[in-house]
Amino acid sequence: MSRPLDVELAPAKLNLALHVRGKRTDGYHDLETLFAFVRDGDVLSVASADGLLLSIDGSMAAGLSDTGDNLVLRAARLLAGKAGVKPKAHLRLTKNLPVASGIGGGSADAAAAFRLLNRYWSIGWPLEKLAALAGQLGADVPACVYSRPLLGSGRGESLSPVALPELADTAVLLVNPMVAVPTGPVFAAWDGVDRGSLGGDLSLAGLRHARNDLQPGAARLFPVITEVLELLSGCEGVRLVRMSGSGATCFALFESKQTQAAGTMQLKRLRPEWWFLDTVLNHNRKPDSLPVS
Ligand code: C5P
Repeated sequence: MSRPLDVELAPAKLNLALHVRGKRTDGYHDLETLFAFVRDGDVLSVASADGLLLSIDGSMAAGLSDTGDNLVLRAARLLAGKAGVKPKAHLRLTKNLPVASGIGGGSADAAAAFRLLNRYWSIGWPLEKLAALAGQLGADVPACVYSRPLLGSGRGESLSPVALPELADTAVLLVNPMVAVPTGPVFAAWDGVDRGSLGGDLSLAGLRHARNDLQPGAARLFPVITEVLELLSGCEGVRLVRMSGSGATCFALFESKQTQAAGTMQLKRLRPEWWFLDTVLNHNRKPDSLPVS
């Protein structure tokens, strides 16, 4: 089935590893990170309108504003301005991912807006050109434009595609303890120690030796993150447990769908108030197979 013109998925982003290498003079930090994306996320659709409108629904809609500062609207206005088209569209965002949670969220939504409106307004730019523009909206937005495994450096916007054949279609569980974590303070809580490069070994064994250098600072600010990591680590069949981005969402890669399902059930029973997403890692972005709602 081919994807309708007017719907775009905004898949959740994971940082399988995130090494902070130093503080820059522009207030940002230099990183080395491995981005990966999962099959599920927010959903953005578009219908005709005389102006530019955004409506938001979905289970996580309450945490979000639909006014002009929403990243989706900022992306729409930026693209229209650069491409010289009139920004006419009624965008509808179904917000399934928690806000301020280290898995893309707003960045993935903005990136989906770029891809969707690039088609809807018949702009026809390649992803590379969209990604170059996307950097103006946030360090993670260019990676979310591609929504495929990437190594990121600089602020996270300098990207090269990688293959992760060992991890293709790996069952993954995302858990958020429902605390909104602001990105800036978590970066500020980094202890300033450069613990070394991510290196080139992107095998599962290599990734187990890698780190998320934002994890200790985030867990100091929000101790519940430690509980999430411990509960995930205690599940049977877990191959890698880590926090994503600046948190608070943590993820576990499982050896099989069966152990993932058992772990999900067990944790949901223990912490019914937390947010869970059992999904799979997307090896490559396959536009024609993205689920639509
Ligand atoms: O670019 P974005 O808006 O996602 O970043 C939010 C905040 O996170 C920045 O203002 C900065 O404080 C911090 N950040 C950082 N280094 C990065 C990315 C983000 O210090 N590479």
